[in-house]
Amino acid sequence: MTKVLVATKKPFAPAAVEKIKEIVAAAGYEFALLEKYADQADFLKAVADADALIVRSDDVNREVIETARNLKIVVRAGAGYNNLDLEAATEKGIVAENTPGQNSDAVAELAIGMMIYLARGGFNGKPGTELKGKKLGIHAYGNVGRRVGLIARGMGMDVYAFDPFIPDEAIEKDGVTCVKSAEKLYSTCNYVSLHIPANAKTKESINYALLSSMPEPAVLVNTARAEVIHEADLLKVMADKPGFAYISDVAPKCVAEFESYAGRYFFTPKKMGAQTVEANINAGTAAATQIVAFLEEGDTTFQVNK
Ligand code: 3PG
Repeated sequence: MTKVLVATKKPFAPAAVEKIKEIVAAAGYEFALLEKYADQADFLKAVADADALIVRSDDVNREVIETARNLKIVVRAGAGYNNLDLEAATEKGIVAENTPGQNSDAVAELAIGMMIYLARGGFNGKPGTELKGKKLGIHAYGNVGRRVGLIARGMGMDVYAFDPFIPDEAIEKDGVTCVKSAEKLYSTCNYVSLHIPANAKTKESINYALLSSMPEPAVLVNTARAEVIHEADLLKVMADKPGFAYISDVAPKCVAEFESYAGRYFFTPKKMGAQTVEANINAGTAAATQIVAFLEEGDTTFQVNK
């Protein structure tokens, strides 16, 4: 019997697990669940005889791929798939997919929520500032970036975007000003919200030159990935620019060094951009549906290792 394993260190909401179970059962497959595992060895044991795998930010490295002797498809229930070893999957003929767009509302709401939290001094009762009238730069205008722009425009922010992969007209039609370089975006905007993927090209690409060019008050909002930030440069900007703040979905490695900058940073205790019941249901059901579509009809619409 075809076995579908859901392996999530950070579990889905129970309602999402139920939906996945239903889709798997309707296809006549076996469902297996491994949640909150503390040890990668538990993941290796569970995946050994799985035909299909659903994960979140779980580490699907070469060892996992090679241990999973029956694996045909792995779906990252979410957008960013930097946790999948695509090279190892491709070598073994395993299809790797993501579920683009399914988490976007949740992540966009968190980005805006963190901006408000910082602007109001963590709700400390003292006068804060408003987002209305401030310039927001969206770095990468994909599913999440577009939604951040939509909410921000509703709040009266002046929205700019840089994305070399999206036609200018697609950005401008949303009432967003298209800029032609990252340099221009950062040097124009008080807030920059990051939505670039983590890969070899973007690793540590958010550096001193970009961040130090932002007009104060300047706020970098990171609901993308920690790896895209050049942390030494970030610390230098924190030291050099008293009007600069950093808010991020999960703390940087250099978190201890932020203690002296009270009021100029906020980090979620656990990565939680996609942690809503709705996003879990959307991404989980999309992942299960994509697995069935692939195993039954060979559908590879969302394959990322083509
Ligand atoms: C994504 O890439 O979709 C988000 O970062 C969600 O990650 P998570 O599944 O670990 O919450």
